[in-house]
Amino acid sequence: MKKNIALLAGDGIGPEVIEQALKVLGSIEKRFGHTFEYHPGDVGAVAIDNTGSPLPQATLDICLAADAILFGAIGDPKYDNDPNAKVRPEQGLLGLRKAMGLFANIRPVTTYPTLIHLSPLKEEKVAGVDLLILRELTGGIYFGEKGWNKEEGHAFDTCFYQVDEIERIAKLAFDYAKLRRNKVTLVDKANVLENSRLWRDTVTKYAAKNYPEVELDFMFVDNAAMQLIQYPKQFDVILTSNMFGDILSDEASVLPGSMGLLPSASIGLRTSMFEPIHGSFPQGTGKNIANQMATIL
Ligand code: IPM
Ligand code: MG
Repeated sequence: MKKNIALLAGDGIGPEVIEQALKVLGSIEKRFGHTFEYHPGDVGAVAIDNTGSPLPQATLDICLAADAILFGAIGDPKYDNDPNAKVRPEQGLLGLRKAMGLFANIRPVTTYPTLIHLSPLKEEKVAGVDLLILRELTGGIYFGEKGWNKEEGHAFDTCFYQVDEIERIAKLAFDYAKLRRNKVTLVDKANVLENSRLWRDTVTKYAAKNYPEVELDFMFVDNAAMQLIQYPKQFDVILTSNMFGDILSDEASVLPGSMGLLPSASIGLRTSMFEPIHGSFPQGTGKNIANQMATIL
């Protein structure tokens, strides 16, 4: 088959890890008789430097016309500690997720027997871990109404979700669970947040109606943060909101021992995007020390 792939290498180690993944794709072309056509586009800090925008229209057009998007990394320290920066590299990634309708981020976490010594955790706790984090990606506190009133000295970010946004990702979580060990854990903070209570209510009703055969349990996010390290093997599919999923997936990368081992797929309404969960690792850029496995996976 012939496929068009948008290539968004981005910042820091992004171009290095993409370069290695391209070698693997080249072998796949040869071995299986496929043809991949690559369409590079700027995104992130490099796009700000070149065009002033972290997500130029030309890049978005490339993505809209592609069969898949391969994404490297985003972020540059020159923006991180400047709270007044008007444009930020991260807006490129968030804008892309929103524009492409990538509402679900799938982050599989497995440990590899040959690498298990890299995990800081005891082998018996992590050997055999196989879980899937289903993170909502285009809603919640990342995209809700926000503001910073400098005169009065206050700022806010709103966590907003609608029932249909919760249902569409819940459906994916249950479908994946059916292919795996038939268990979904909804992670929230329903003891405190109204928004989490909406998630619990929606997911409970949705599951009862459509997936009675899948086991559904609930966990508060603070407890889940602990359980993920203490008893990671209890989890099959973790379903959660944008912010909780961001935090828990970095935490989960400790299980196999390196962030450089965790891939992710973002899927939704249009073309899907594939990216490592790690960031741009500026300290490691250009030193040929970045782990390319996450991007290859
Ligand atoms: C991730 C990253 C992004 C996020 C950043 C770079 C905006 O941490 O993909 O997990 O917070 O979603
Ligand atoms: Mg993250």
